[in-house]
Amino acid sequence: MLKNKKVVLVGGSSGIGYAITQKALNAGAQVVIASRSSEKLQTAARQLGTPVQTEVVDATDEQSVEDFFRRIGHFDHLAITIKPSLPAGRFLETGSKAAMAAFDAKFWGQFRLAQHGAQYIRQNGSITFTSGIAAHRGYIGYSAISAMNAATEALAKVIAMELAPVRVNTVCPGFVDTDPPTPDRTQYVRTLSPTLPLNRLGTAGDIADAYLYLFVSAYSTGTVVVVDGGAIC
Ligand SMILES: NC(=O)c1ccc[n+]([C@@H]2O[C@H](COP(=O)([O-])OP(=O)(O)OC[C@H]3O[C@@H](n4cnc5c(N)ncnc54)[C@H](OP(=O)(O)O)[C@@H]3O)[C@@H](O)[C@H]2O)c1
Repeated sequence: MLKNKKVVLVGGSSGIGYAITQKALNAGAQVVIASRSSEKLQTAARQLGTPVQTEVVDATDEQSVEDFFRRIGHFDHLAITIKPSLPAGRFLETGSKAAMAAFDAKFWGQFRLAQHGAQYIRQNGSITFTSGIAAHRGYIGYSAISAMNAATEALAKVIAMELAPVRVNTVCPGFVDTDPPTPDRTQYVRTLSPTLPLNRLGTAGDIADAYLYLFVSAYSTGTVVVVDGGAIC
């Protein structure tokens, strides 16, 4: 399905990005995984067991992003799964500095990567952003996260028009059980699961399937694929 295609995954060293990497390799792609930590990238590359190119990039640093694409050269598909560190917290207790730093990584990080990467994307290529279900539903404690996810989807729609025929889409994950289980996390999963029609949280693999679909779906652009176990029903 992705034979002779080069796929670049920023955030490919863990979670959903790692699951996309596994599926893209299985589909025959040549894969570049990128994130800030060289150590995390090396660990991921060892675990994958199939050769991948690893590249250090910090999406909050314009020069780092520019140099990253210069090193990689031309490619087919770019997917971005950067997760900012911003703990959920009620609006009145959310510091604007922490919220802005998270916005800088998630929203502006995707903006910078798309802007600098676009010129290297081959014919029939694509960009896939990541938002999150908080863009579509209100969840207490998710004010800044909701805003950056909604902004991501809005950006993708406009640049899908400007960059065509390069396709630009967004995957919107619901709640995903990617963290190692801790007592708190287990309780959270138990509470949330019964609220979903499918009665479970998603796996990283469940979400990764949507990126693979968007890489090859030649008539999909400017769209949002929601993978949430029915959370927005
Ligand atoms: N997990 C969920 O429940 C869930 C739900 C809805 C939406 N999402 C969204 O799905 C995406 C992936 O989530 P995940 O749970 O798979 O995250 P994750 O496991 O924490 O992975 C995030 C990846 O982003 C990289 N990264 C973070 N900051 C970066 C930066 N400034 N520049 C380059 N790379 C950076 C990390 O590696 P380094 O630390 O090495 O940089 C890591 O590879 C995120 O956008 C998240 O908001 C997740």
